[in-house]
Amino acid sequence: MQTPPNLATTQPALLPQAQGELCVPAQRSIADPLTFSLIIPTFNEGGNVGAMVRCLTKLLDPVLPDNYELIVVDDDSPDRTWERAQALMADYPQLQVMRRQGERGLSTAVIRGWQAARGEILGVIDGDLQHPPEILLQLLGNIQQGAEMAIASRHVSGGGISEWSLFRRMTSRGAQLLGLVILPQVVGRISDPMSGYFLVQRSCIEEFQLNPAGYKILLEVLGRGKVERIAEVGYVFQERQDGESKVTWRQSVEYIQHLVRLRSRGRLERLHQKFPIGRFLRFGVVGFSGLFVDMVMFALLFNTLRLDVILSTLLSAEVALINNFFWNDLWTFGDISRHQPGKRQWLKRLLKFNVVCGAGIVLQGTLVGLLSKVLGMDALLAKLLAIAIVVLWNFWINFKLSWRVTDVKK
Ligand code: GDD
Ligand code: MN
Repeated sequence: MQTPPNLATTQPALLPQAQGELCVPAQRSIADPLTFSLIIPTFNEGGNVGAMVRCLTKLLDPVLPDNYELIVVDDDSPDRTWERAQALMADYPQLQVMRRQGERGLSTAVIRGWQAARGEILGVIDGDLQHPPEILLQLLGNIQQGAEMAIASRHVSGGGISEWSLFRRMTSRGAQLLGLVILPQVVGRISDPMSGYFLVQRSCIEEFQLNPAGYKILLEVLGRGKVERIAEVGYVFQERQDGESKVTWRQSVEYIQHLVRLRSRGRLERLHQKFPIGRFLRFGVVGFSGLFVDMVMFALLFNTLRLDVILSTLLSAEVALINNFFWNDLWTFGDISRHQPGKRQWLKRLLKFNVVCGAGIVLQGTLVGLLSKVLGMDALLAKLLAIAIVVLWNFWINFKLSWRVTDVKK
């Protein structure tokens, strides 16, 4: 008697679980791109997933024939939603299924789905039919007319909430108000920042390091992505047909954490973009090592070898300078210089570093003269202030000139 084929071999393959950084790959890296990828995050949606897939494919097939995909991202649901979705794949080639094990959460599920997606336009819709699928066509239309993001909103004309309790309405609006206070530059841009139903151009978030918390994936995309043109489409949040909401008090805590993180991160990122603090700190550490080398060399040349004081100063300064260049090239700007291997490029950088730091020495002398002789400042204080200014000068001009130029050619 023939042994029945092993079920696992006949079932279509699941998508490999996306790993690593929460970062959406660039469109140029997609081998066989599509126009649209819609992520359906699920947890215990076994009773809804079939209806979702049937409804979505009926809606999208005529509009984007063979040019879209649905990706169910299931967090290893106890009701085995992933398995029910997998069983649908034979009839729906547009459907892919990712079973996540060891990682949980609505927002990260969406991003993992976008990581595996091939679409130029990325979307998310709840897997419980509470987000009316037919709104998708209007959202897609807005994107195709030039919007970078199209959000289904309960708070614009045509929007609404079916039978939410007063408490749930109050908490949702309260959360929005809190968002307006903590993160006005993000939450204030849209009418329904709590929405979990939207589309976004991949180009707005590709290669950005995302770090969401809880349920509010929209905040993360708006907070970290580069989104200018936003469209909103009104929709009425439906009643659940099957299963229940997974929202608990935990999501509220995560929401506040997320707002605070985006706020501080936003400030840090803006600062970081304007002034790379991490690199500057490394430059400072190297500078200190140079100070040490300079003093030891000076003592050796002037005290031990009895060389002339000016000659000892210049030689020790140059040795310290080469020390600094070596460590900056390896560590502070290593990520840039690695793109420019070879002795010639190395020498070019060393020469530029010398010129910039040489100019820094002249600048230091000028500043000390100005501060102490003209403004009457105490010489030691003038020297310290001049060193601080020259460190900034050395860092910024070297970053923009000595290393940045080599970076341009990578
Ligand atoms: N993969 C995965 N992992 N999916 C999850 C998880 C999770 O940890 N938690 C929830 N989901 C899925 C659910 O299966 C459902 O498909 C969708 O995410 C929304 O979850 P619900 O628990 O039904 O949320 P809700 O209906 O109370 O609120 C939804 O609508 C609001 C208005 O748009 C969520 O999308 C909220 O974020 C949104 O504000
Ligand atoms: Mn729901």
